[in-house]
Amino acid sequence: MSYLMGIDIGTTGTRAVIVRPDGTVVGAATGDHLPMRMERPGWAEQDPEDWWEATTVAVQGALVEAGLNGSDIKAVGLSGQMHGVVLLDRANAVLRPSLIWCDQRSQAQCDWITAQVGSERLIQLVSNPALTGFSAPKLLWIRDHEPAIYDRAAHFLLPKDFVRYRLTGEFATDVSDASGTLLFDVSNRRWSQEMLAALDIDPSLLPQAFESPKITGTVTREAALLTGLAAGTPVVGGAGDQAASAVGNGIVLPGLTSSTLGSSGVMFAYTGAPKLDSAGRIHTFCHAVPGKWHVMGVTQGAGLSLRWFRDHFGTAESWYAGQTDSDVYELLIKEAEHIPPGSGGLLFLPYLMGERTPHLDPEARGMWFGLTASHTRGHLIRAILEGVAFSLRDSLEIFSELEIPVEQIRASGGGSRSFTWRQIQADVYGKELVTLKTSEGSAFGAALLAGAGAKVYSSVEESAREAIQVSECLYPRATISAIYDRQYSVYRDLYPAVRDLAHRLSALSVESAPEH
Ligand code: XUL
Repeated sequence: MSYLMGIDIGTTGTRAVIVRPDGTVVGAATGDHLPMRMERPGWAEQDPEDWWEATTVAVQGALVEAGLNGSDIKAVGLSGQMHGVVLLDRANAVLRPSLIWCDQRSQAQCDWITAQVGSERLIQLVSNPALTGFSAPKLLWIRDHEPAIYDRAAHFLLPKDFVRYRLTGEFATDVSDASGTLLFDVSNRRWSQEMLAALDIDPSLLPQAFESPKITGTVTREAALLTGLAAGTPVVGGAGDQAASAVGNGIVLPGLTSSTLGSSGVMFAYTGAPKLDSAGRIHTFCHAVPGKWHVMGVTQGAGLSLRWFRDHFGTAESWYAGQTDSDVYELLIKEAEHIPPGSGGLLFLPYLMGERTPHLDPEARGMWFGLTASHTRGHLIRAILEGVAFSLRDSLEIFSELEIPVEQIRASGGGSRSFTWRQIQADVYGKELVTLKTSEGSAFGAALLAGAGAKVYSSVEESAREAIQVSECLYPRATISAIYDRQYSVYRDLYPAVRDLAHRLSALSVESAPEH
């Protein structure tokens, strides 16, 4: 029997899963990460060594749970949080903590890139506008503020590619993850030499970019000792977490869309050719399916919003869940189930880490709007669940403007484990929402890519046919969708009405933060 392993370097932890070719998950484990460091509002850093440590814990744990040896694993696929910047020196040591995907400090660098290249040319070269979420502005922030560190950099890697380096000793990435750097010619699936020249970035910093199922190296003896994998096991290119999750959800054909509620929230649609939004509100990236593309809209604070609520207002539930081995999120969401759709006229903007789609605004700020004395904590929680769904509906509206077909939406990510949150999504989107038998998302998709690379499947599309099955289908309820349509129209107008005030507040909080 061939077993496949997928490893996903997430934000809160690294997950390893072991999968049989028919899609059955036989073992899975997570190594937790330290919380991200947020020295100032909008800053977010993590230590790459922590990811590697968590990878060794997760891989060993998954092998033990499956009762398998490393030699039973035919191939490994990697997936990971996108856009983070890892810099290594000539001796391949990590130079500074990684500025990760949700770090928002690089607006000045985005403005500089746009002025340097021109906004239309940017879309022609790399298919996307300069956003603080992407890697190049983060890299330039380091060049501007920490030139001594930048000068010592010999390699720039994305988070999962740092783990690849530790596993295989190779410097490589894949086309889907490279697409989120703003240095990649997404249409032609190669690094953009013109962009590198315009930004004066040395091309030798970059790893080679492969299609996702391609084998990029094999596990070294040292990594084998640390993880329990067998030396020589092939490691494929893999994908950014969103493209990997899409493969795990079978989003490999036109008309299929996924809605993923992880720390961030993503609405993702397959496209046969690059589809561009001239306003850059959604991302246009290479898919993990060779020769195909995708679009996605990203909300920065999806699961992150509920986690924030748990951390600061759910202390009693967290304690109770710890004592009774129950799920703290289930306890919190239970409180929201009794609240009627629309949360009694309360709206939540989930912009706790700024927002990408549709506002492209790192200074956007979150809020509850419409509070009255009759609202309870349950209303606050329900408004979070609904606000996140509204923020993803913003992406669906853009897909519709661009005539990207959306026939079915597949729910995934930790947030979609909740039936209540899934039903809210179906009602808010007004679309059929499907759940799959396996909800392992990105790590599962990475394992399927490993299978395509190791020729267990003839293609990524075939892996979806062999390994993915639908387990539930939720339909929108017309009367409730109508309530949400009305609520959404207020939601849509809310942020534009307070944008200037949010920016003024953001400027005040920067003034009062400690000097860097
Ligand atoms: C995608 C994105 C997030 C991160 C973290 O553009 O920023 O999905 O990859 O999950």
